[in-house]
Amino acid sequence: MDKIFTISILGCGSRGHYTYGKCMYDFKDKFQIVSVCDINPAQIELAQKAWGIPTENCFLDAEEFLKEKRSDALVIATQDRDHVKMCIKALELGYDILLEKPISPVEDELYELLEANKKYNRKVIVCHVLRYAPAFLKMKELLDAGTIGKIVCIDWLEQVTYWHQAHSFVRGNWRNDKETSPMIMQKCCHDLDLLQYYADSKCKTVYSVGELSFFKKENQPEGAADRCADCKYINDCVYSAERLYVAKRRKDFDWVEDKPDVNEDVRQQGWPFNVVDLSRPITEESIRKAYQNSQYGRCVFACDNNVVDNQTVVMQFENGIKAHLTMTAFTALPGRKITFHGTLGEVEMDEENDYIRVSRYGKGTEFLSIKEVLKDAVNEDFGHGGGDLMLVKDFYKALAGDEKLGTTLDRSIESHLMALAAEKSRITGQVCSVHKE
Ligand SMILES: NC(=O)c1ccc[n+]([C@@H]2O[C@H](COP(=O)([O-])OP(=O)(O)OC[C@H]3O[C@@H](n4cnc5c(N)ncnc54)[C@H](O)[C@@H]3O)[C@@H](O)[C@H]2O)c1
Repeated sequence: MDKIFTISILGCGSRGHYTYGKCMYDFKDKFQIVSVCDINPAQIELAQKAWGIPTENCFLDAEEFLKEKRSDALVIATQDRDHVKMCIKALELGYDILLEKPISPVEDELYELLEANKKYNRKVIVCHVLRYAPAFLKMKELLDAGTIGKIVCIDWLEQVTYWHQAHSFVRGNWRNDKETSPMIMQKCCHDLDLLQYYADSKCKTVYSVGELSFFKKENQPEGAADRCADCKYINDCVYSAERLYVAKRRKDFDWVEDKPDVNEDVRQQGWPFNVVDLSRPITEESIRKAYQNSQYGRCVFACDNNVVDNQTVVMQFENGIKAHLTMTAFTALPGRKITFHGTLGEVEMDEENDYIRVSRYGKGTEFLSIKEVLKDAVNEDFGHGGGDLMLVKDFYKALAGDEKLGTTLDRSIESHLMALAAEKSRITGQVCSVHKE
């Protein structure tokens, strides 16, 4: 029988609870969640109820929680600026750690963590979940097999979608880089990480332009109120909280409230509704009340947001490959669109339209279905194209002593250095080096 590792979760919000917690709880032969910590009592109540954690193992204060080691391993899924100090304390206690990205928006903290990890020699796996997603791995396999010859350049589009921007980056937790991270790090550290992975080289220099162009006061419609509940555009504005949280949920889930046979998971798992409303079960009335009484009910043109809504980064890798990444809020659909241009052909991925296209110049084109690639590998979707689930499986292997991991802390840090250089370039208008000279 496999060893069962005990787990603690620090930060029981969307990722801590509904991604890693849920996954680990379901893998009963591999993990046992034994203790939880969150500053929000409502999150603790939900976690305690979901996983049957004894009250003495539930903490509302991270300092108290981090006074001693409470399990074999720890998941850290708090907010961006808390990760490193919590992770270093956890390393001192002897934990192996699954650490949410971004590691930190502060460059010195990246090196501090690297040093601490060398000193304590534990496993720190950063949640670069796309590294584990079957379709993204398939592309790596195609590129490494020389299918398109030598990669010359890469085009990369990250489609944030208009409503996701409004939820997370205008009203939500990642709206202001003074509290969290620059958006190119927050939203694109996966993309930057994958770019260096596919290019198989370190990034040398970056140049970036971008701005907050739309979600600001000057674009607020005439006569609009600062809160959706008081606004005459409540039923018309595409960003209205009533439309994004009540109407959209009704549409996404075909409204499950009056269907008692629909299981609790389907009722409650729906992101971002389960972030806006912590009452359970969520009802149409409860989610309306939740947005009316929180940051999520604010007009998108009257928030304290400062992160960009579009940004482009041009990258030059040490091995000569060039890449171009655009992240934009202004898309109807989510997902990434990526094209690798090689000396012998092209590989293109379009997540939303479910294909990987492989074209060999003069030799024809074939299409793979992303859903089929996923089905062959994990047989179920579970966030980030199966990457969330595969990461948890990899974390188990790491705890069990497997040294061949999906990625390492140093590689994860590389993507953060790329993001910091991109942000510096965006602000200064200069081409910036990724590494200190
Ligand atoms: N890997 C990915 O693809 C991915 C996707 C989304 C978010 N994230 C990252 O995961 C992290 C968590 O995001 P989320 O969406 O779960 O946010 P969230 O707000 O839903 O959850 C964070 C939780 O941490 C708790 N918390 C905050 N400060 C705390 C403290 N000092 N001590 C204890 N608990 C504290 C909050 O109360 C909250 O419940 C963020 O850093 C985010 O950038 C990663």
